[in-house]
Amino acid sequence: MKKPLRVAVTGAAGQICYSLIPRIASGEMFGADQPVILQLLEVPFEKPQQALKGVAMELDDCAFPLLQGIVLADDPMVAFKDADWCLLVGSKPRGPGMERKDLLLDNGKIFVGQGKAIDAVAAENVHVAVVGNPCNTNAWICAMSAPRVAKKNFSAMTRLDQNRAMSQLAAKAGVHSSAVTEAIIWGNHSATQYPDYFNAKINGKLASEVIGDEAWAKDVFIPTVQKRGAAIIDVAGASSRFSAANGLIDHVRSLVSPGSTVHSVAVWSNGDYGIDKDIMASFPVRTTGHGEWEVVKGYDLNGLAKERIALSVKELNEEISVVKEMLGSI
Ligand code: NAD
Ligand code: LMR
Repeated sequence: MKKPLRVAVTGAAGQICYSLIPRIASGEMFGADQPVILQLLEVPFEKPQQALKGVAMELDDCAFPLLQGIVLADDPMVAFKDADWCLLVGSKPRGPGMERKDLLLDNGKIFVGQGKAIDAVAAENVHVAVVGNPCNTNAWICAMSAPRVAKKNFSAMTRLDQNRAMSQLAAKAGVHSSAVTEAIIWGNHSATQYPDYFNAKINGKLASEVIGDEAWAKDVFIPTVQKRGAAIIDVAGASSRFSAANGLIDHVRSLVSPGSTVHSVAVWSNGDYGIDKDIMASFPVRTTGHGEWEVVKGYDLNGLAKERIALSVKELNEEISVVKEMLGSI
């Protein structure tokens, strides 16, 4: 039997985690032969701590063969102790009429404290995946607060956007979403993200040839994917839950599966594709080892792509400026 992975999950009594945690425990994230120990963090108040106990009781009642232990915590120093993976979901979701960056004031500081705790107590080669919004900049804050941990070990989730793009392209082309590949998301997980119609493929052919409708791409596809999170909040009255959990399962599963197909991940930029260095931006990524990745080079970016990606990068730089003003130098 493999050594269990210690997987810390924050916001463990929240909406996303209710769908996420049983799927980690059942093996969907790390594989059917990989035991896990779940280290679940919630804020130190009675109601969320009670709800967390309920999550643990339900986990017991599932008798998952791969689940080797459960740690319940109200302190990040306990939750992140020796953690191999930290899945940072815990934070406030936005409401109607808000942009995700409006959450920086409330959520940004969480990732300073958690970054420091990860730095202090997590496993040597810990990997950190951030979901809590605005996730790119929260991941940046966390990485800056954990200088011991390599920047390449931090990621933020744009996989839900990729999955949304795949579904939209498939519906337009009249095919199943599994026929869509390389639906790349560039930039920020925000309304400025650039979902790339021109490099996506359908049954191995360029989507732009199969669909052949640039006006649709510009006027329908791109804004639909950019604003899908807000559309769900408007309709459901709450931000996406099981689709977000599913996005994180896919995100981590791809990052631990060498040879997986090209997938979209917000990672620490090394300046590839002319995107500013030292911000967390979404790129096409190929996995080369457990949690190891490289940016896939060679995609052609046309004028529209360059213009839109530049807008998203500008927004990411603005978010970082807000953080620096708000939190001082970190
Ligand atoms: P939720 O309010 O249902 O749950 C959040 C949980 O986090 C709560 O139980 C809360 O007590 C807990 N929490 C808050 N601060 C914490 C802290 N410092 N440490 C530990 N736990 C803490 O919200 P949700 O629907 O689960 O959404 C969580 C976050 O995920 C939001 O920021 C949301 O915007 C974001 N999100 C991101 C994506 C994405 O694609 N990146 C998709 C959906 C949602
Ligand atoms: C999403 O994309 O569904 C999440 O980021 C939640 C939100 O605020 O849109």
